[in-house]
Amino acid sequence: MIERSLVLLKPGAVQRSLMGRVISRFEDAGLKIVGSKMVWADKELSKKHYAEHVEKGFYPGLEDMITQGPVLAMVLEGIEAVALIRKMVGATEPKSAAPGTIRGDFAHTSYGWADQKKIGVKNLIHASATVEEAKTEVALWFTDAELHTYRTVHDLHILE
Ligand code: RTP
Ligand code: MG
Repeated sequence: MIERSLVLLKPGAVQRSLMGRVISRFEDAGLKIVGSKMVWADKELSKKHYAEHVEKGFYPGLEDMITQGPVLAMVLEGIEAVALIRKMVGATEPKSAAPGTIRGDFAHTSYGWADQKKIGVKNLIHASATVEEAKTEVALWFTDAELHTYRTVHDLHILE
């Protein structure tokens, strides 16, 4: 039941200096950062990461958005972490994302606005949707040597 999830703080989150506040939410929940690095994704990496969306009308704007600056890529680990992190991240469209979620608290833009402007929806963060997707995405963004196994206080107080 211990799962790993790929989280990307998208260029908008990096440029708005939100990295620390977002990371704190995950650390506060007891999730363990087992990998972390900044990556300036190119179009090729974007197409691999968003393979399921490449043929969709919104893909060009999404690619521009994700390759527009460096992202902070992280692998987070915890109990049933994939679904938990998606819950903390909130709905894809910030306008619809519940208050208390990362997208709901730090953004408010909408599909309507993004479509009218022909830009990607600036929703700050990506998180793997399923355990299977997480395995593929972690392997795409990180090598085994970049992922670390170590103990935190949560291992002592929660896991045991
Ligand atoms: P992500 O993959 O980035 O975590 O987002 P998600 O699972 O919540 O949503 P997904 O459907 O996978 O969409 C990937 C990203 O594409 C942009 N998007 N734009 N204009 C549109 O209709 C539209 N739909 C999706 C968003 O940036 C979304 O995060
Ligand atoms: Mg997705």
